[in-house]
Amino acid sequence: MPTERLVLLSSREIAKMREAGRLAAELLLHLEPMIKPGVSTLQINDAAERWTLAHGAKSAPLGYKGFPKSLCASVNQVVCHGIPNAKQILRQGDIINIDVTPLVDGYHGDTSKTFFVGKPSAVAQRLVEVTEECLRRGIAEVKPGSRTGDIGAAIQEYAEAQGFSVVRNFAGHGVHRVFHTEPEILHYGKRGTGKKLRQGMVFTIEPMINEGTYEVEILADGWTAVTQDGKLSAQFEHTLAVTDSGVEILTLP
Ligand code: MF3
Ligand code: CO
Ligand code: CO
Repeated sequence: MPTERLVLLSSREIAKMREAGRLAAELLLHLEPMIKPGVSTLQINDAAERWTLAHGAKSAPLGYKGFPKSLCASVNQVVCHGIPNAKQILRQGDIINIDVTPLVDGYHGDTSKTFFVGKPSAVAQRLVEVTEECLRRGIAEVKPGSRTGDIGAAIQEYAEAQGFSVVRNFAGHGVHRVFHTEPEILHYGKRGTGKKLRQGMVFTIEPMINEGTYEVEILADGWTAVTQDGKLSAQFEHTLAVTDSGVEILTLP
């Protein structure tokens, strides 16, 4: 039975997560060539849905708590949970986060990347590079005996030193048969605080880093989170397992 509690996965279950994670990573690779000026976020969504079904999987976001589409497409000032839409056409200079979660034989592979549409502005390029480095530094903290606060501190220290801010309203999360569960992984915080990491824990790290204020607002659709100041936001996400000595990234192709 799926559980809302913090669980440790067996090596058999981690093998299932590895399959889901690989499919998620391959889906992003499949979508990447589409990300060009003139394409709508709905076209990207529909391509992802077809590809996912053709690979024997389901799109976990579709119908999740009422979410209406198969992936999240978050453009420019959208922080996360952007809803794909035929009227939203990508334009030269946009940044877009695509967040996918195929459900493979009962297990979720959750990953996202921020892509450039054509040539980015200097600040967009720097924000996206810093956000990817935040994820890398968060992952580098993961090993048995570390604490969740070590991950958040590493991300916050780097993002703020680069002049950017860390979104507080959304967090990384345990993920396995359940899409969102314990532990909660804050992307800010203090070293030595939070839950101790143990072999078999599986969770995401998914920092959202803003150009300006970290404050967000939710649009009237009930999903789309945008920056309060209208400035840019970027995000990268991997699903990770704590191993006997460190970390395995499960969402690699
Ligand atoms: N994939 C998102 C995450 O990283 C969750 C999307 S839930 C949805 O946690 F309903 F918005 F799709
Ligand atoms: Co995700
Ligand atoms: Co996630």
